Amino acid sequence: MEHQRENFGGRLAVILAMAGSAIGLGNIWRFPYMVGEHGGAAFVLIYIVCTLLVSLPLFVAEVTVGRKSHSSARLALGELAPKSKFWKAFGFILVFTPLLIASYYSVIGGWSVSFFVKACALDFVKSSPDVVTGAFGSFISSPWTPLIAHFAFLAACCAIVACGVKAGIEIFSKYSIPVLFLMVLVILIYSVSLPGAGAGVKYLLKPDFSQITPSTFAYALGQSFYSLSLGMGCIITYGSYVKRDENIVASSFGTAISDLLFAIMAGFAIMPAVFSAGIEPGAGPSLIFQSVPFIFSKMGATLPVVSSICAILFFLTITVAAMTSCISLIEVGVAYLHEKTRMSRPVASAIIFVICGVVGVFCSLSFGPLSDLQIMSKGIFDLLDWFASNVLLLIAAFAVVVFVGFVLKRDEVRDEITNSGTLKGCVKLFPVLYFLIKWVAPVAVLLIFISNFIL
Ligand code: PFF
Repeated sequence: MEHQRENFGGRLAVILAMAGSAIGLGNIWRFPYMVGEHGGAAFVLIYIVCTLLVSLPLFVAEVTVGRKSHSSARLALGELAPKSKFWKAFGFILVFTPLLIASYYSVIGGWSVSFFVKACALDFVKSSPDVVTGAFGSFISSPWTPLIAHFAFLAACCAIVACGVKAGIEIFSKYSIPVLFLMVLVILIYSVSLPGAGAGVKYLLKPDFSQITPSTFAYALGQSFYSLSLGMGCIITYGSYVKRDENIVASSFGTAISDLLFAIMAGFAIMPAVFSAGIEPGAGPSLIFQSVPFIFSKMGATLPVVSSICAILFFLTITVAAMTSCISLIEVGVAYLHEKTRMSRPVASAIIFVICGVVGVFCSLSFGPLSDLQIMSKGIFDLLDWFASNVLLLIAAFAVVVFVGFVLKRDEVRDEITNSGTLKGCVKLFPVLYFLIKWVAPVAVLLIFISNFIL
């Protein structure tokens, strides 16, 4: 069934929107740390190989499902396999997972907004490094400010989604992605020029093959999946807005390259400054909300103006990067409600705002008043993150590759990927790509799934 629906303008618009989904906190707070911890340049090499052999084929498979079905993730598989009750029902995971992730992702988005406001108020420059570092714990455990920031962040993302695929998502990514690259470049140039920055550059570049173990592959693949927003319905949904004459492989490749480039630039923007300030690199929230403010505060003693500008730029960067990712998560739910019930996008966005807003309240409070509420010795926030990233995401990714490899006919997939044989390069590449989708990707996803439980 062909729905009347919006499309992204052209190749660049597709790449920028998908890159918007892909480029996010994962690039800023996990990638640089993983590179440093798991063998520097050797890890980057493995990351690239894993991306080319597994994540990129999976990415192409998701775009294929989206464009072929012309439906959002929830309905896409059922649309392509209309006789199967299983695939129809399975679509539920593809809308449930992104909404779950959006709920806690927007809590962190809220922290970024708050820190941006703090940077504008020159808080980091005015306080001593120790005070700034300690302030993070009391900030996240306080009930109100993080909640207000969470709702503000979510409201901004929902408002953009409400404006539509072209007028909202496409326009926002068209301006924000180039600006993100520019901002991270400015911070990078400054960071590597700091005294002692060389140690940070070495941390990222020094290839240490002795660090490479089988688990390195699992880490690299897991990170590459998360970074490319795979297994969450986002890429299927965005794929459904790709025009019929667009080259799926080229757009997917462009997205993966932008994502990798941004992650590497973020590494060189952050780690040299971390080493220059003489602190230990870490991953996760502590890196950007404790270590980085520490650096700004320390630099602020001698260079208050430069330090303030960098702090504002930095927190603006992570806020915008988190926004473009959160938008893609919200779009999955909005597109579904809009398609299924024909309700307008603003109304659908308002409903998603309420759902994610309420779930996010519990996530946010799990750092403060609800911190005693533990399930499987995890707080609510950590539990949702663990469940979504280590379980749901992998189940969904596995299902999509199995669907494209075994449920769709080879010729159908070939027609979609090569635009009915008109894209000569894709025709040549297709046998390899199809093999990777059908055999390599499912095995790799299974291996990460198993390794997540035993490593
Ligand atoms: N890819 C994003 C990142 O690297 O931060 C995170 C993300 C976005 C995850 C969209 C999942 C998603 F569906």
